[in-house]
Amino acid sequence: MDTIHIRGGRRLKGRIAVSGAKNAALPLMTASLLTDEPLTLTNMPRLADVRTLGRLLDVLGADMSLDGGADADVMTLHAKDIRSTTAPYEIVSKIRASFWVLGPLLARCHDAKVSLPGGCAIGARPVDLYIKGLQKMGAGIDLVDGYVHASAPGGLKGAVIRSPIVSVGATHTLMMAATLADGVTVLENAAREPEIGDVANCLAAMGAKIEGIGTSTLRIEGVEKLHGATHRVISDRIEAGTYAIAAAMTGGEIVLEGAIGETFDAALSVLRAAGAEVESEQGAVRVARNGERLQATDVVTQVFPGFPTDLQAQFMALMTVAEGESEITETIFENRFMHVQELARFGADISLHGDKALVRGVEKLKGAPVMASDLRASAALIIAGLAAEGETIVNRVYHLDRGFERIEAKLSACGAEIWREKATQ
Ligand code: UD1
Repeated sequence: MDTIHIRGGRRLKGRIAVSGAKNAALPLMTASLLTDEPLTLTNMPRLADVRTLGRLLDVLGADMSLDGGADADVMTLHAKDIRSTTAPYEIVSKIRASFWVLGPLLARCHDAKVSLPGGCAIGARPVDLYIKGLQKMGAGIDLVDGYVHASAPGGLKGAVIRSPIVSVGATHTLMMAATLADGVTVLENAAREPEIGDVANCLAAMGAKIEGIGTSTLRIEGVEKLHGATHRVISDRIEAGTYAIAAAMTGGEIVLEGAIGETFDAALSVLRAAGAEVESEQGAVRVARNGERLQATDVVTQVFPGFPTDLQAQFMALMTVAEGESEITETIFENRFMHVQELARFGADISLHGDKALVRGVEKLKGAPVMASDLRASAALIIAGLAAEGETIVNRVYHLDRGFERIEAKLSACGAEIWREKATQ
Protein backbone atom coordinates (compact mmCIF):
# COMPACT_ATOMS: atom_id res chain seq x y z
CA MET A 1 0.00 0.00 0.00
CA ASP A 2 1.13 3.58 -0.68
CA THR A 3 2.49 5.68 2.16
CA ILE A 4 2.68 9.45 2.58
CA HIS A 5 5.88 10.93 3.97
CA ILE A 6 6.15 14.36 5.54
CA ARG A 7 9.16 16.21 6.82
CA GLY A 8 7.53 18.65 9.18
CA GLY A 9 8.30 22.16 10.34
CA ARG A 10 7.64 24.21 7.23
CA ARG A 11 5.22 27.12 7.19
CA LEU A 12 2.59 26.77 4.52
CA LYS A 13 2.29 29.78 2.29
CA GLY A 14 0.35 30.09 -0.93
CA ARG A 15 -2.97 29.54 -2.62
CA ILE A 16 -5.02 26.36 -2.74
CA ALA A 17 -7.92 25.83 -5.12
CA VAL A 18 -10.68 24.12 -3.17
CA SER A 19 -12.26 21.17 -4.99
CA GLY A 20 -15.92 20.33 -5.41
CA ALA A 21 -17.44 18.82 -2.28
CA LYS A 22 -17.30 15.04 -2.03
CA ASN A 23 -20.40 15.04 0.15
CA ALA A 24 -22.36 16.86 -2.54
CA ALA A 25 -20.81 15.11 -5.54
CA LEU A 26 -21.83 11.64 -4.35
CA PRO A 27 -25.55 12.29 -3.81
CA LEU A 28 -25.61 14.41 -6.99
CA MET A 29 -24.35 11.40 -8.90
CA THR A 30 -27.16 9.25 -7.48
CA ALA A 31 -29.68 11.90 -8.62
CA SER A 32 -28.84 10.89 -12.20
CA LEU A 33 -30.92 7.74 -11.61
CA LEU A 34 -34.06 9.87 -11.31
CA THR A 35 -34.19 10.75 -15.00
CA ASP A 36 -33.72 9.11 -18.40
CA GLU A 37 -31.97 12.26 -19.61
CA PRO A 38 -28.28 13.17 -19.06
CA LEU A 39 -27.17 14.95 -15.89
CA THR A 40 -23.93 16.91 -16.26
CA LEU A 41 -21.96 17.77 -13.12
CA THR A 42 -19.12 20.29 -13.26
CA ASN A 43 -16.44 20.97 -10.63
CA MET A 44 -16.43 17.26 -9.77
CA PRO A 45 -13.64 16.21 -7.38
CA ARG A 46 -11.39 13.41 -8.63
CA LEU A 47 -11.64 10.99 -5.75
CA ALA A 48 -11.67 7.27 -5.12
CA ASP A 49 -15.21 7.49 -3.67
CA VAL A 50 -16.45 9.14 -6.87
CA ARG A 51 -14.93 6.32 -8.93
CA THR A 52 -16.43 3.68 -6.65
CA LEU A 53 -19.90 5.19 -6.91
CA GLY A 54 -19.42 5.51 -10.68
CA ARG A 55 -18.90 1.74 -10.81
CA LEU A 56 -22.15 1.17 -8.93
CA LEU A 57 -24.10 3.55 -11.16
CA ASP A 58 -22.73 1.71 -14.18
CA VAL A 59 -24.09 -1.58 -12.80
CA LEU A 60 -27.48 0.08 -12.27
CA GLY A 61 -27.61 1.56 -15.78
CA ALA A 62 -26.08 5.05 -15.74
CA ASP A 63 -23.48 5.54 -18.46
CA MET A 64 -20.72 7.83 -17.30
CA SER A 65 -18.50 10.03 -19.43
CA LEU A 66 -15.77 12.39 -18.34
CA ASP A 67 -15.22 15.43 -20.50
CA GLY A 68 -11.50 15.30 -21.31
CA GLY A 69 -10.59 11.89 -19.87
CA ALA A 70 -9.88 10.49 -16.44
CA ASP A 71 -8.60 13.79 -15.04
CA ALA A 72 -11.59 15.85 -16.11
CA ASP A 73 -13.87 17.59 -13.65
CA VAL A 74 -16.95 17.47 -15.86
CA MET A 75 -18.97 14.29 -15.57
CA THR A 76 -22.08 13.33 -17.45
CA LEU A 77 -24.27 10.51 -16.19
CA HIS A 78 -27.01 9.16 -18.38
CA ALA A 79 -29.38 6.56 -16.94
CA LYS A 80 -31.52 6.12 -20.05
CA ASP A 81 -32.66 2.70 -18.90
CA ILE A 82 -32.21 1.24 -15.46
CA ARG A 83 -30.42 -2.09 -16.02
CA SER A 84 -30.66 -3.38 -12.46
CA THR A 85 -32.30 -2.27 -9.23
CA THR A 86 -29.87 -4.25 -7.08
CA ALA A 87 -26.91 -2.43 -5.52
CA PRO A 88 -24.49 -5.20 -4.58
CA TYR A 89 -22.61 -5.64 -1.32
CA GLU A 90 -19.19 -5.60 -3.06
CA ILE A 91 -19.60 -1.89 -3.86
CA VAL A 92 -22.01 -0.55 -1.24
CA SER A 93 -19.84 -1.93 1.56
CA LYS A 94 -17.02 0.41 0.42
CA ILE A 95 -18.78 3.77 0.74
CA ARG A 96 -21.82 4.65 2.75
CA ALA A 97 -23.17 7.19 0.28
CA SER A 98 -23.72 4.44 -2.29
CA PHE A 99 -26.60 3.26 -0.08
CA TRP A 100 -28.31 6.48 -1.12
CA VAL A 101 -29.22 5.00 -4.52
CA LEU A 102 -32.12 3.52 -2.57
CA GLY A 103 -34.21 6.71 -2.82
CA PRO A 104 -33.87 7.39 -6.56
CA LEU A 105 -34.20 3.72 -7.57
CA LEU A 106 -37.35 3.28 -5.52
CA ALA A 107 -38.79 6.56 -6.83
CA ARG A 108 -38.17 5.73 -10.48
CA CYS A 109 -38.52 1.93 -10.60
CA HIS A 110 -40.74 1.37 -7.54
CA ASP A 111 -38.33 -1.33 -6.41
CA ALA A 112 -34.79 -1.40 -5.04
CA LYS A 113 -32.55 -3.92 -3.35
CA VAL A 114 -29.57 -2.26 -1.75
CA SER A 115 -26.92 -3.82 0.45
CA LEU A 116 -26.58 -2.37 3.93
CA PRO A 117 -23.83 0.23 3.79
CA GLY A 118 -20.19 0.41 4.80
CA GLY A 119 -17.88 3.41 4.81
CA CYS A 120 -15.76 4.83 7.60
CA ALA A 121 -15.86 2.89 10.85
CA ILE A 122 -16.87 5.86 12.99
CA GLY A 123 -19.81 4.37 14.84
CA ALA A 124 -22.86 2.17 14.39
CA ARG A 125 -24.38 4.35 11.64
CA PRO A 126 -27.79 2.65 11.36
CA VAL A 127 -30.32 3.24 8.55
CA ASP A 128 -33.55 3.10 10.58
CA LEU A 129 -34.51 6.68 9.67
CA TYR A 130 -34.30 5.94 5.95
CA ILE A 131 -36.46 2.87 6.38
CA LYS A 132 -39.11 4.54 8.55
CA GLY A 133 -39.32 7.48 6.16
CA LEU A 134 -39.74 5.31 3.07
CA GLN A 135 -42.33 3.19 4.89
CA LYS A 136 -44.30 6.37 5.61
CA MET A 137 -44.22 7.04 1.88
CA GLY A 138 -45.87 3.67 1.31
CA ALA A 139 -42.88 1.42 0.63
CA GLY A 140 -42.79 -2.13 1.92
CA ILE A 141 -39.37 -2.92 3.35
CA ASP A 142 -37.78 -6.31 4.03
CA LEU A 143 -34.30 -6.97 5.31
CA VAL A 144 -33.00 -10.07 3.54
CA ASP A 145 -29.44 -11.43 3.65
CA GLY A 146 -27.90 -8.06 4.47
CA TYR A 147 -29.94 -6.25 1.81
CA VAL A 148 -32.70 -3.69 2.22
CA HIS A 149 -35.43 -4.66 -0.23
CA ALA A 150 -37.86 -1.79 -0.74
CA SER A 151 -40.86 -1.90 -3.02
CA ALA A 152 -43.80 0.36 -3.77
CA PRO A 153 -45.61 -1.29 -6.69
CA GLY A 154 -48.04 1.60 -7.16
CA GLY A 155 -45.33 4.25 -6.64
CA LEU A 156 -44.41 6.26 -3.55
CA LYS A 157 -46.91 8.60 -1.89
CA GLY A 158 -46.24 11.98 -0.33
CA ALA A 159 -46.10 12.02 3.48
CA VAL A 160 -45.18 14.19 6.43
CA ILE A 161 -41.99 12.78 7.92
CA ARG A 162 -40.52 14.15 11.13
CA SER A 163 -37.07 12.81 11.87
CA PRO A 164 -36.21 12.41 15.57
CA ILE A 165 -32.58 13.24 14.78
CA VAL A 166 -30.97 15.16 11.96
CA SER A 167 -29.52 12.83 9.35
CA VAL A 168 -27.76 13.97 6.21
CA GLY A 169 -28.12 10.65 4.38
CA ALA A 170 -31.78 10.14 5.31
CA THR A 171 -32.58 13.69 4.14
CA HIS A 172 -30.86 13.11 0.77
CA THR A 173 -32.64 9.79 0.31
CA LEU A 174 -36.13 10.93 1.29
CA MET A 175 -35.81 14.22 -0.65
CA MET A 176 -34.92 12.32 -3.82
CA ALA A 177 -37.62 9.72 -3.24
CA ALA A 178 -40.19 12.51 -2.81
CA THR A 179 -39.39 14.23 -6.11
CA LEU A 180 -41.27 11.56 -8.08
CA ALA A 181 -43.82 10.59 -5.41
CA ASP A 182 -47.54 11.15 -5.78
CA GLY A 183 -48.42 14.26 -3.74
CA VAL A 184 -46.58 16.44 -1.27
CA THR A 185 -43.88 15.28 1.13
CA VAL A 186 -42.81 17.40 4.05
CA LEU A 187 -39.48 16.58 5.70
CA GLU A 188 -39.34 18.07 9.17
CA ASN A 189 -36.10 18.33 11.12
CA ALA A 190 -34.28 17.80 7.83
CA ALA A 191 -30.52 18.25 7.63
CA ARG A 192 -29.47 21.76 6.55
CA GLU A 193 -25.90 20.98 5.55
CA PRO A 194 -24.88 23.05 2.51
CA GLU A 195 -24.52 19.85 0.48
CA ILE A 196 -28.26 19.17 0.97
CA GLY A 197 -29.02 22.62 -0.43
CA ASP A 198 -26.70 21.96 -3.34
CA VAL A 199 -28.46 18.70 -4.20
CA ALA A 200 -31.88 20.34 -3.78
CA ASN A 201 -30.85 23.10 -6.21
CA CYS A 202 -29.75 20.49 -8.74
CA LEU A 203 -33.02 18.58 -8.33
CA ALA A 204 -34.89 21.85 -8.88
CA ALA A 205 -32.89 22.40 -12.08
CA MET A 206 -34.05 18.91 -13.10
CA GLY A 207 -37.66 19.97 -12.64
CA ALA A 208 -38.31 19.00 -9.01
CA LYS A 209 -40.58 21.24 -6.94
CA ILE A 210 -38.83 21.88 -3.63
CA GLU A 211 -39.52 24.64 -1.13
CA GLY A 212 -37.58 25.48 2.01
CA ILE A 213 -34.11 24.85 0.58
CA GLY A 214 -31.54 25.71 3.25
CA THR A 215 -34.06 25.32 6.10
CA SER A 216 -34.94 22.36 8.30
CA THR A 217 -38.36 21.90 6.68
CA LEU A 218 -38.38 20.79 3.07
CA ARG A 219 -41.64 20.64 1.14
CA ILE A 220 -41.43 18.56 -1.99
CA GLU A 221 -44.28 18.28 -4.45
CA GLY A 222 -43.86 15.16 -6.55
CA VAL A 223 -43.78 15.50 -10.33
CA GLU A 224 -44.33 12.91 -13.07
CA LYS A 225 -40.87 13.15 -14.55
CA LEU A 226 -37.52 14.85 -14.04
CA HIS A 227 -35.33 15.97 -16.90
CA GLY A 228 -31.61 16.46 -17.52
CA ALA A 229 -29.64 19.44 -16.22
CA THR A 230 -26.16 20.85 -15.76
CA HIS A 231 -25.06 21.63 -12.23
CA ARG A 232 -21.85 22.91 -10.62
CA VAL A 233 -20.85 21.06 -7.44
CA ILE A 234 -20.51 23.36 -4.41
CA SER A 235 -16.99 23.80 -3.04
CA ASP A 236 -15.80 21.47 -0.32
CA ARG A 237 -16.10 23.15 3.08
CA ILE A 238 -14.42 20.21 4.81
CA GLU A 239 -11.42 20.30 2.49
CA ALA A 240 -11.27 24.10 2.90
CA GLY A 241 -11.52 23.77 6.68
CA THR A 242 -8.77 21.17 6.69
CA TYR A 243 -6.35 23.45 4.85
CA ALA A 244 -7.39 26.39 7.04
CA ILE A 245 -6.41 24.32 10.07
CA ALA A 246 -3.14 23.32 8.36
CA ALA A 247 -2.32 27.02 7.82
CA ALA A 248 -2.98 27.77 11.49
CA MET A 249 -1.00 24.71 12.56
CA THR A 250 2.14 25.67 10.64
CA GLY A 251 1.97 29.39 11.32
CA GLY A 252 1.62 30.12 7.64
CA GLU A 253 -0.80 31.86 5.33
CA ILE A 254 -3.09 30.21 2.83
CA VAL A 255 -5.67 31.69 0.51
CA LEU A 256 -8.40 29.14 -0.13
CA GLU A 257 -9.66 29.90 -3.61
CA GLY A 258 -13.29 29.05 -4.19
CA ALA A 259 -13.99 28.49 -0.48
CA ILE A 260 -17.38 29.75 0.70
CA GLY A 261 -16.88 31.17 4.20
CA GLU A 262 -20.54 30.85 5.24
CA THR A 263 -20.45 27.10 4.71
CA PHE A 264 -17.84 26.60 7.44
CA ASP A 265 -18.29 29.70 9.53
CA ALA A 266 -18.38 27.76 12.82
CA ALA A 267 -14.94 26.31 12.10
CA LEU A 268 -13.56 29.70 11.06
CA SER A 269 -14.89 31.28 14.29
CA VAL A 270 -13.17 28.62 16.37
CA LEU A 271 -9.93 29.19 14.45
CA ARG A 272 -10.21 32.90 15.18
CA ALA A 273 -10.79 32.16 18.86
CA ALA A 274 -7.67 30.00 18.85
CA GLY A 275 -5.63 32.90 17.50
CA ALA A 276 -5.64 32.55 13.72
CA GLU A 277 -6.40 35.44 11.38
CA VAL A 278 -9.33 34.71 9.13
CA GLU A 279 -10.70 36.90 6.37
CA SER A 280 -13.51 36.00 4.04
CA GLU A 281 -13.06 37.65 0.68
CA GLN A 282 -15.12 37.49 -2.47
CA GLY A 283 -14.73 33.90 -3.65
CA ALA A 284 -11.93 33.05 -1.21
CA VAL A 285 -10.98 32.73 2.45
CA ARG A 286 -7.55 33.72 3.81
CA VAL A 287 -6.23 32.03 6.94
CA ALA A 288 -2.96 32.98 8.61
CA ARG A 289 -1.16 32.88 11.93
CA ASN A 290 1.68 35.13 12.91
CA GLY A 291 4.37 33.76 15.22
CA GLU A 292 2.14 33.63 18.34
CA ARG A 293 1.23 30.35 19.94
CA LEU A 294 -2.33 29.09 19.49
CA GLN A 295 -4.69 29.20 22.45
CA ALA A 296 -6.60 26.12 23.60
CA THR A 297 -10.24 26.40 22.50
CA ASP A 298 -13.17 24.09 23.23
CA VAL A 299 -15.42 22.74 20.50
CA VAL A 300 -18.61 20.72 20.37
CA THR A 301 -19.51 19.04 17.10
CA GLN A 302 -23.02 19.78 15.93
CA VAL A 303 -25.19 19.57 12.86
CA PHE A 304 -24.95 22.52 10.45
CA PRO A 305 -24.47 25.40 11.13
CA GLY A 306 -22.51 24.08 14.14
CA PHE A 307 -18.93 22.87 14.14
CA PRO A 308 -18.77 19.90 11.72
CA THR A 309 -17.87 16.45 12.98
CA ASP A 310 -15.85 16.05 9.76
CA LEU A 311 -13.35 18.65 11.07
CA GLN A 312 -13.16 17.33 14.63
CA ALA A 313 -10.05 15.18 14.11
CA GLN A 314 -8.21 17.94 12.25
CA PHE A 315 -9.04 20.48 14.95
CA MET A 316 -7.87 18.07 17.63
CA ALA A 317 -4.52 17.82 15.83
CA LEU A 318 -4.30 21.62 15.98
CA MET A 319 -5.09 21.72 19.69
CA THR A 320 -2.28 19.26 20.50
CA VAL A 321 0.18 22.19 20.27
CA ALA A 322 -2.03 24.98 21.64
CA GLU A 323 -1.36 26.64 24.95
CA GLY A 324 -3.62 25.21 27.64
CA GLU A 325 -6.28 22.52 27.74
CA SER A 326 -9.07 22.15 25.24
CA GLU A 327 -12.17 20.01 25.50
CA ILE A 328 -13.48 18.49 22.31
CA THR A 329 -16.96 16.99 22.48
CA GLU A 330 -18.23 14.71 19.72
CA THR A 331 -22.03 14.60 19.62
CA ILE A 332 -22.69 13.19 16.12
CA PHE A 333 -20.85 9.85 16.04
CA GLU A 334 -20.15 7.75 19.10
CA ASN A 335 -16.88 6.24 17.99
CA ARG A 336 -15.06 9.06 16.29
CA PHE A 337 -11.92 9.26 18.40
CA MET A 338 -9.78 6.63 16.76
CA HIS A 339 -7.24 9.28 15.78
CA VAL A 340 -6.48 9.90 19.47
CA GLN A 341 -4.13 6.93 19.80
CA GLU A 342 -2.39 7.87 16.55
CA LEU A 343 -1.93 11.50 17.63
CA ALA A 344 -0.35 10.14 20.82
CA ARG A 345 2.45 8.71 18.64
CA PHE A 346 3.48 12.30 17.86
CA GLY A 347 3.71 12.98 21.60
CA ALA A 348 0.25 14.55 21.95
CA ASP A 349 -1.31 14.49 25.41
CA ILE A 350 -4.98 13.53 25.06
CA SER A 351 -7.30 11.65 27.38
CA LEU A 352 -10.77 10.36 26.54
CA HIS A 353 -13.83 10.69 28.77
CA GLY A 354 -16.90 9.28 27.02
CA ASP A 355 -17.84 11.69 24.25
CA LYS A 356 -15.15 14.18 25.30
CA ALA A 357 -11.45 14.37 24.56
CA LEU A 358 -9.28 16.50 26.79
CA VAL A 359 -6.28 17.81 24.89
CA ARG A 360 -3.40 19.28 26.89
CA GLY A 361 -1.22 21.24 24.53
CA VAL A 362 2.44 20.30 24.28
CA GLU A 363 5.32 22.50 23.08
CA LYS A 364 5.99 20.45 20.00
CA LEU A 365 5.16 17.21 18.20
CA LYS A 366 7.68 14.66 16.95
CA GLY A 367 7.27 12.86 13.61
CA ALA A 368 6.25 9.20 13.79
CA PRO A 369 4.93 6.30 11.73
CA VAL A 370 1.13 6.41 12.03
CA MET A 371 -1.91 4.64 10.64
CA ALA A 372 -4.96 6.36 9.16
CA SER A 373 -8.13 4.94 10.70
CA ASP A 374 -10.75 6.79 8.67
CA LEU A 375 -11.08 9.49 6.06
CA ARG A 376 -11.05 12.66 8.15
CA ALA A 377 -8.73 11.18 10.78
CA SER A 378 -6.11 10.69 8.08
CA ALA A 379 -6.19 14.42 7.38
CA ALA A 380 -5.56 15.05 11.09
CA LEU A 381 -2.41 12.93 10.89
CA ILE A 382 -1.17 14.94 7.91
CA ILE A 383 -1.79 18.17 9.83
CA ALA A 384 0.14 16.85 12.83
CA GLY A 385 2.94 15.67 10.54
CA LEU A 386 3.23 19.10 8.91
CA ALA A 387 4.08 20.67 12.26
CA ALA A 388 6.04 17.80 13.80
CA GLU A 389 9.80 17.72 14.03
CA GLY A 390 11.32 15.07 11.78
CA GLU A 391 9.67 12.58 9.47
CA THR A 392 6.14 11.22 9.62
CA ILE A 393 4.97 8.24 7.62
CA VAL A 394 1.22 7.87 7.18
CA ASN A 395 0.06 4.34 6.39
CA ARG A 396 -3.31 3.26 4.96
CA VAL A 397 -3.57 6.36 2.80
CA TYR A 398 -6.42 4.88 0.77
CA HIS A 399 -8.65 6.60 3.34
CA LEU A 400 -7.21 9.96 2.27
CA ASP A 401 -7.61 9.19 -1.41
CA ARG A 402 -11.31 8.58 -0.82
CA GLY A 403 -11.96 12.18 0.09
CA PHE A 404 -9.07 14.59 -0.51
CA GLU A 405 -8.12 15.46 -4.05
CA ARG A 406 -4.35 15.59 -4.72
CA ILE A 407 -3.57 16.49 -1.11
CA GLU A 408 0.21 16.09 -1.49
CA ALA A 409 0.28 18.26 -4.61
CA LYS A 410 -1.82 20.99 -3.01
CA LEU A 411 0.31 21.07 0.15
CA SER A 412 3.65 20.85 -1.70
CA ALA A 413 2.65 23.85 -3.80
CA CYS A 414 2.43 25.79 -0.51
CA GLY A 415 5.89 24.72 0.58
CA ALA A 416 5.21 21.52 2.53
CA GLU A 417 7.75 18.74 2.27
CA ILE A 418 5.33 15.90 1.57
CA TRP A 419 5.54 13.06 -0.89
CA ARG A 420 3.93 9.73 -1.66
CA GLU A 421 5.79 6.46 -1.92
CA LYS A 422 4.08 4.00 -4.16
CA ALA A 423 3.70 0.50 -2.87
CA THR A 424 6.00 -2.03 -4.51
CA GLN A 425 3.97 -5.07 -5.54
C1 UD1 B 1 -22.89 12.38 6.31
C2 UD1 B 1 -21.55 12.70 5.71
C3 UD1 B 1 -20.44 12.54 6.73
C4 UD1 B 1 -20.74 13.41 7.95
C5 UD1 B 1 -22.15 13.15 8.47
C6 UD1 B 1 -22.55 14.10 9.58
C7 UD1 B 1 -21.67 12.17 3.35
C8 UD1 B 1 -21.25 11.29 2.23
N1 UD1 B 1 -21.30 11.81 4.58
O1 UD1 B 1 -22.88 11.03 6.75
O2 UD1 B 1 -19.22 12.96 6.12
O3 UD1 B 1 -19.82 13.10 8.97
O4 UD1 B 1 -23.12 13.28 7.41
O5 UD1 B 1 -22.44 15.40 9.14
O6 UD1 B 1 -22.29 13.20 3.14
N2 UD1 B 1 -28.38 7.95 12.19
C9 UD1 B 1 -29.31 7.10 12.75
N3 UD1 B 1 -30.18 6.47 11.93
C10 UD1 B 1 -30.20 6.68 10.58
C11 UD1 B 1 -29.26 7.58 10.02
C12 UD1 B 1 -28.36 8.21 10.85
O7 UD1 B 1 -29.32 6.87 13.97
O8 UD1 B 1 -31.03 6.06 9.89
C13 UD1 B 1 -27.41 8.65 13.07
C14 UD1 B 1 -25.96 8.29 12.77
O9 UD1 B 1 -25.58 7.08 13.38
C15 UD1 B 1 -25.22 9.48 13.33
C16 UD1 B 1 -26.20 10.63 13.06
O10 UD1 B 1 -27.47 10.02 12.82
O11 UD1 B 1 -25.04 9.33 14.71
C17 UD1 B 1 -25.84 11.50 11.89
O12 UD1 B 1 -25.58 10.69 10.78
P1 UD1 B 1 -25.89 11.16 9.28
O13 UD1 B 1 -26.15 12.62 9.27
O14 UD1 B 1 -26.93 10.25 8.72
O15 UD1 B 1 -24.50 10.88 8.58
P2 UD1 B 1 -24.24 10.30 7.13
O16 UD1 B 1 -25.31 10.75 6.21
O17 UD1 B 1 -23.93 8.86 7.23
